[in-house]
Amino acid sequence: MAIRSVILGVGASAPERIVTNYDLEKLMDTSHDWIIQRTGISERRMVDEGGKWSDFVVPGCLMAMERAGVKAEELDMVIAGTMTADMMMPSGGCTIQSLIGAKNAVAFSLSAACSGFIYGLTVADRFIRTEPDMKILVIGADLISQRLDWEDRSTAILFGDGGGAAVLTGREGERGILSTRMYSDGDLWDLLYVSGGGTLDPAFNEASIKPHAIKMKGNELFKVAVKSMGQACLNALEEAGVKAEDIDLVVPHQANLRIINKVISRLGLDMEKVIINVDKYGNTSAGTIPLALNDAYEAGRIKEGDLVLMPVFGGGLTWGATLLRW
Ligand code: UT7
Repeated sequence: MAIRSVILGVGASAPERIVTNYDLEKLMDTSHDWIIQRTGISERRMVDEGGKWSDFVVPGCLMAMERAGVKAEELDMVIAGTMTADMMMPSGGCTIQSLIGAKNAVAFSLSAACSGFIYGLTVADRFIRTEPDMKILVIGADLISQRLDWEDRSTAILFGDGGGAAVLTGREGERGILSTRMYSDGDLWDLLYVSGGGTLDPAFNEASIKPHAIKMKGNELFKVAVKSMGQACLNALEEAGVKAEDIDLVVPHQANLRIINKVISRLGLDMEKVIINVDKYGNTSAGTIPLALNDAYEAGRIKEGDLVLMPVFGGGLTWGATLLRW
């Protein structure tokens, strides 16, 4: 029987401060009605001034580890899917390794924007297939509120802070990751990017937020997101020999409710099978899938044996999909 990568436990967390669409109406020329109709977002969480990425990431990791029954010193690897860790160096993976005491793990960050969690699951799966005893903590979390230009209403209303983690190991049997695919197209980088803070335009050159804020060609990106996520889902299903109608639950990247609706209708599925929490958190980049997976788990919407599909799309451009039996 095949060895597969099984999620032993999932957890998530977000800062406590809630920023509603009505709060944003006071800051810029926008409205609750426009935001709800065009995105499905009602509110998002944001760190307080001086708040750090690791402040809300650690509780999600500890929750996943407790549910998995895995202690920090038992972890062999920590993979942090993020582009907004506390520091440029050390990596977010090493920061979390230190804060949770995973002293026997190798730790690193993986930069794939919104796709960080699915890329992380894919990398973890490849390690576990060759070393099934490995216990790996995969994190997807971002602090995007510090990357917003409050003068750009087309992006500032979309994002929030939050994320979560999953603990994986190898198990023999039917459960676990059946297929997991990741894709990228660097040619389309300028549909979604942050130019400042790299070596081309270092942070110490800038007195303004502008180069460090997210820039997006929303309309074009929307079409690529629908097409790419839809195709990634079909590829993941084909690789596993599973039909779309057999899916029990879809836990998609939460960027925009309209994007999710279109991907789900391409798959010919019913929205009742889809976990939606973009209304509560907005787009938390790499954080959306672990936050939604955790919501599904806590609401009792995932049963052992369920087929779960998790498609993602983000800056890079990057995209992918993981199909697993819970
Ligand atoms: O996580 C990574 C993946 N993320 C995505 O793939 C995001 C993809 N894109 C989107 O979700 C959507 O394109 C947005 C939500 C960003 C924008 O929605 P849209 O329906 O594509 O709007 P639009 O950019 O075509 O703008 C429509 C109108 C424009 O006004 P005019 O030119 O028609 O007069 C905008 O100026 O809406 C206006 N607008 C706003 N109005 C009120 C843009 N932003 C706002 C706003 N409030 N916040």
